[in-house]
Amino acid sequence: MRLARHPLAIMVARVNRPIEIAPSILPADFARLGEECIDLEKAGAHRIHWDVMDGVFVPNITVGPDVVKSIRPHLTIHCEAHLMVMKPDEIAPLYLAAGCETVMVHAEACTHLHRSLNNIRTLGGRSGVVLNPHTPASTIQHVLDQTDHILVMTVNPGFGGQAYIPLLDKIAELKAMVDASGYEIDIEIDGGISATTIGECAAAGANVFVSGSALFKYDDKAEGIAELTSIAEAARA
Ligand code: DX5
Ligand code: ZN
Repeated sequence: MRLARHPLAIMVARVNRPIEIAPSILPADFARLGEECIDLEKAGAHRIHWDVMDGVFVPNITVGPDVVKSIRPHLTIHCEAHLMVMKPDEIAPLYLAAGCETVMVHAEACTHLHRSLNNIRTLGGRSGVVLNPHTPASTIQHVLDQTDHILVMTVNPGFGGQAYIPLLDKIAELKAMVDASGYEIDIEIDGGISATTIGECAAAGANVFVSGSALFKYDDKAEGIAELTSIAEAARA
């Protein structure tokens, strides 16, 4: 049982929570996926965001746990699995075993979300909960004690390169909930994050950012990661 932290410690923890860029693997050249992930780490990526899709929860299918398992030993940075799957309780252990430190399940796919998050922690992972654009922040009010990471979808899941859906009130509401909870929880934004959208999301309270199509448009990904990071840090200052 995690004890709530002193309000002052919460304030310091939230303000100083590091800005992190987590490239999505979706736009990568899947014929060279391992090399692409290694290059992203060399370019300064803080995490690799594995978009896992089962073709049922979303109309697309991507990589299985064996792909992550084969690439994981070649990376030193954090791997996070975003499970866009109908059976997250069955699938989550596979990606933890494959070497993902954080596994995120959609609230919309979990009948017993509290148990699903606790199971991820019991297996040694950091637990993440994902909210689709239509899902209210209040959905996770009673599972914050089981949560290490919140992923806010700013596109409807399934594909990269979609139009950004602004949800700044929702991000701010989640930040207020987290701050009041006494827990250190990352708030991550996923979908349409670019140099023009990351600032407002950081100002609203997010500290981790998935970027797929926008980051892969940069010829020099190190430049892209540096630019996105500096915009987010400036917006928070
Ligand atoms: C969509 C995925 C996102 C997406 C982000 O279902 O969860 O991670 O790949 O891609 P961009 O940054 O292109 O919106
Ligand atoms: Zn994702």
